[in-house]
Amino acid sequence: CGIVGYVGTENNAKEVIIEGLKRLEYRGYDSAGIALCRDGKVETRKHVGEIANLEKIIGDPDYDSSVGIGHTRWATHGAPSDVNAHPHSNSDNTITVVHNGIIENFVELREWLIDEYGVKFKSDTDTEVIAHLIGIYYDGDLHQAVNRAVEQMRGAYAIGVIAAAEPDKIVAVRKDAPMVAGIGEGCNFIASDIPALLKYVRKIYLIENNETIVLTKDEIKIYDENQKVVKRDVFHVTWDADAAEMDGYEHFMMKEIHEQPKGLYETLTRRLNEDDTINLDGISMTKEDIENFNKVYIVACGTAYHAGLVGKAAIEKMARIPVEVDIASEFRYRDPFVDDKTLFIAISQSGETLDTLAALREAKRKGARILSVVNVVGSSVARESDDVFYTWAGPEIAVASTKAYTTQLMCMYLLALYMGHTKGVIDKDYYARFIEELKQIPDKLEDLLKKEKEIEAVAKKYCRKEQVFFIGRGVDSGVSYEGSLKLKEISYINSFAIAAGELKHGTIALIEEDTLVFALATQDFLFEKMLSNIQEIKARGANVVGVAKEGNREIEKQSTEVIYIPDCMDEVTPLLSVVPLQLFAYFVAKFRGCNIDKPKNLAKSVTVE
Ligand code: G6P
Repeated sequence: CGIVGYVGTENNAKEVIIEGLKRLEYRGYDSAGIALCRDGKVETRKHVGEIANLEKIIGDPDYDSSVGIGHTRWATHGAPSDVNAHPHSNSDNTITVVHNGIIENFVELREWLIDEYGVKFKSDTDTEVIAHLIGIYYDGDLHQAVNRAVEQMRGAYAIGVIAAAEPDKIVAVRKDAPMVAGIGEGCNFIASDIPALLKYVRKIYLIENNETIVLTKDEIKIYDENQKVVKRDVFHVTWDADAAEMDGYEHFMMKEIHEQPKGLYETLTRRLNEDDTINLDGISMTKEDIENFNKVYIVACGTAYHAGLVGKAAIEKMARIPVEVDIASEFRYRDPFVDDKTLFIAISQSGETLDTLAALREAKRKGARILSVVNVVGSSVARESDDVFYTWAGPEIAVASTKAYTTQLMCMYLLALYMGHTKGVIDKDYYARFIEELKQIPDKLEDLLKKEKEIEAVAKKYCRKEQVFFIGRGVDSGVSYEGSLKLKEISYINSFAIAAGELKHGTIALIEEDTLVFALATQDFLFEKMLSNIQEIKARGANVVGVAKEGNREIEKQSTEVIYIPDCMDEVTPLLSVVPLQLFAYFVAKFRGCNIDKPKNLAKSVTVE
């Protein structure tokens, strides 16, 4: 979910909040709503669906104010509906709340409120509990009432609260869910994320966990959990809000696919010295540290997890340390073998994914060294890590991740090379060859993007399939998972990825006449084996789209179509082979008329467990 709040002098809260919410739609878009303080009352309007639906019911010029809060929702408790949309108020509409996250003890609190106070609930949400709780404790001091309510709330959340009786103020709390405050002139802001505010401010306070903010038009007061005033340095945002605009592309996803060469170039060159050594400036990782690590855990969700699969291969091969890749939501519930000899790598585009954050905290508690690979500067994962290796993808808006994935891969290669080199276990020539390959990748990817039309034609031919398989061996299997995820996320086709050699142990039962299978065959040393797997599926009448390196003509005999990627070392093919799969997913979704940038049920940043 996304939150925006505004306190100013002019009657322009509506415009500011809607503008901010639009920038936060990637956080969820089941419903949206705003609440404005007007004439000693709070007036709330909300609507199921995208923000555009909300805009239709708030058009009257009379409906405005200098103070308000807004919300765009990704449903957790309670189905998407007008009633469950935020903001939520207490019974007499004197306290109104927007909320991102989950209140874990909400059933208990709800029952208590019903039994003790006879509260009648209007919605199925956990958020409404917060409004009633604050309402009960309110006696003219919103800040104090919020504090008392928060003491009773368990879970991860960020909230913004307004009170009818204090129409010049917003009180906000951050606990394990993102929140920033924007410093304006004669006005101040809160939001779940910086881009929501960039049209208005560049000076930001990054709010820490368990902090409360009290916001008026003239000041922002930050309090720690003991309610002591905290002094915070101003964070100046230097990046450009326009970078998040669409630049003439029809969708953010396509724009972001095309930004991959630039993102890769930036991520690489910032870490490469003139003599081709890698600098991990700002990251403390000595030879001794590396020798001390006896295990690496890479933990992430979704696309970032798939980048981890390739990272495992790179680190094991180059640094000769065993690596486990884990899905973040599983990691902390199985008492993992983590101690002070463990390097824990969290990969996250947003840096706000709660599953990843929770896993990170568990690893930290057990004494691991925490290194994160993150795209969003100043995000929670970044702040809670010992060290951060930033990807330089720039803002990623489309829900389906593309440029974040390839830049994450680049970080993993650089990290693996650095560790191997520093430890002295990597052959000098191999290292030099590898760096040379990485340098050529941005141009090769640019060339590959010229095949857009070819891939569009393949997508057109197969866009009505209801089932697609992706297979590969070695790093190709990791990329298969990512290709399959892209397709299901945005086209809603039932797609499935499996290691090619494993196919015959069960899943091949599903292959029949005309089934579509993407076969990734980019690994020279596994090519023959892959050809045998392709033959197995061809023999069942499947259509095979091969993905292979330029020059590997052998595959044409076995495939219905072949998409060639530029020739390169086996190890780095994922940086290229994923691109036709991204484009295929994009065009299939387009031909099927899907909402490419905002697929149903998904959110870009998932801050619930
Ligand atoms: C969500 C998104 C995925 C993304 C995953 C991890 O589920 O829908 O596209 O890969 O979160 O996000 P992160 O920001 O941690 O990389």
